[in-house]
Amino acid sequence: MKKKTAIVTGGAQGIGKAIAAGLVRNNFYVIIAEINEEAGKTAVEDLGENNSRFVACDVAKEQDVLHLFENMRENNDSLEVLVNNAGIIRDRPIWKLTVEEFDLVVQVNLRGTWLMCREAAKVFRETKYGRIINIASRAWLGNFGQTNYSASKAGVIGLSRSLALELAKYNTTVNVVAPGLIETPLTTNLPQSVQQQLIEAQPTKKMGSVEDISAMVAFLASKEAGFITGQIHHVDGGKSIGARVG
Ligand SMILES: NC(=O)c1ccc[n+]([C@@H]2O[C@H](COP(=O)([O-])OP(=O)(O)OC[C@H]3O[C@@H](n4cnc5c(N)ncnc54)[C@H](O)[C@@H]3O)[C@@H](O)[C@H]2O)c1
Repeated sequence: MKKKTAIVTGGAQGIGKAIAAGLVRNNFYVIIAEINEEAGKTAVEDLGENNSRFVACDVAKEQDVLHLFENMRENNDSLEVLVNNAGIIRDRPIWKLTVEEFDLVVQVNLRGTWLMCREAAKVFRETKYGRIINIASRAWLGNFGQTNYSASKAGVIGLSRSLALELAKYNTTVNVVAPGLIETPLTTNLPQSVQQQLIEAQPTKKMGSVEDISAMVAFLASKEAGFITGQIHHVDGGKSIGARVG
């Protein structure tokens, strides 16, 4: 039986790679749509060439996204699952941020997700089956130094809720996973003192693992999750609950 196909953007490392591995374990063929060619090819070697392929793609560029979907049509790939995971940060207080740093973060995180959703929605309307999982962040609720990032991730949530309404009658769900502090190159590259502060602010006093996120994505990507749409699934060790004392 032909495997179902999932796209994972930014699937070469960190959370995206774990999501791709989780989907492969659940018998999906995974397309890694990635800007980093070397890391993308290594990820495919790790996942197995029968289970995955790399397609070079900067999700912020319309031409790259159109090329990805064209490449899939040429290869007769089906499409059942889209995971928009590619994301970047450029953290600084607003008075130090440049307009270029604002634009870049919004272009990759929000415009990239929107472009990918638009092309996938065209497929899912035809096939009348789909799962879209957009990776936002707990930071959509607000984080010091992340006016650009928080705005982009809050935008992803608004986009997902509207798209959930547009695609509901096509048997297609759209959900958001909002990770909290997760151990990946994005967080372990932060200065040690900043990492310590972030861990201290966690109710659980620890970072989450990439598998905490991939398990949630694997469930939302399954047939069994068909009655869940337009929701924000925080996977954050309780950080989104709010203030805590002690
Ligand atoms: N790590 C965390 O603690 C954390 C917390 C909340 C949310 N997130 C979100 O989870 C997602 C993955 O984060 P991560 O920590 O694994 O990041 P990461 O930096 O380790 O990996 C991101 C991947 O996306 C790719 N990428 C970057 N720009 C791209 C573009 N324009 N087009 C295609 N691919 C691109 C990178 O090459 C990389 O492979 C991001 O959306 C991030 O905002 C992460």
